[in-house]
Amino acid sequence: MSRDELLEANVNIIKPVTEEAVKFSPNAMLLVVTNPLDAMVYTAFKVSKFPKNRVFGMAGILDTTRFRAFISIELNISVENIQALVLGGHGDTMVPIARYTTVAGIPLTHFLRPDRIDAIIERTRKGGGEIVKYLKTGSAYYAPSLAVAEMVESIVKDKKKILPCSAYLEGEYGINDLYFGVPIKLGAGGVEEIIKIELTDQEKEAIKNSEAAVRNVVDLIKL
Ligand code: 2OP
Repeated sequence: MSRDELLEANVNIIKPVTEEAVKFSPNAMLLVVTNPLDAMVYTAFKVSKFPKNRVFGMAGILDTTRFRAFISIELNISVENIQALVLGGHGDTMVPIARYTTVAGIPLTHFLRPDRIDAIIERTRKGGGEIVKYLKTGSAYYAPSLAVAEMVESIVKDKKKILPCSAYLEGEYGINDLYFGVPIKLGAGGVEEIIKIELTDQEKEAIKNSEAAVRNVVDLIKL
């Protein structure tokens, strides 16, 4: 199946599913987990006409978990000690931010040389593809399910956790009318806040690149 055919097939799934959800659960929240992730959340948002706080996507937690796991393996330190952040669209252009990544509160740069950090960032970006290649007949399911459970728990228990998720941006990070991976506060109200952080020029450049990749896909969908 070509990339375009796959996109069309997934749009043809997400549209009727969203319409059904709106019809039977008009007050629901929509947590989208379908690739191409950010474009599919955007589709659900447009089709549902729900407010932006009730439509969001899971990707950043999964990507961040991979980033943390690779750091943990490299350092031989518990993954539980590693706090990390991945921004941007879900795919090869995602932006793992080493500057906001710590090991027991200590900056990652204290532990790893820049070339090793770069290699881990590269593996994180391609982590989805790596898993798909091993599985051969499907996509990752264990880590994505855990990530979804964490998001649902934060909403149901109103935990107000800060989690990297695909959220609708209206000017944040210089991006408008697009779903994109950013840290959000997730609670009983859904997306209660988008957390804005300072980025370097190089990080901003990587974000622009990722924005363009997501926008390219969104533009292919006739909404
Ligand atoms: C993943 O990242 C393929 O998007 C899927 O596991």
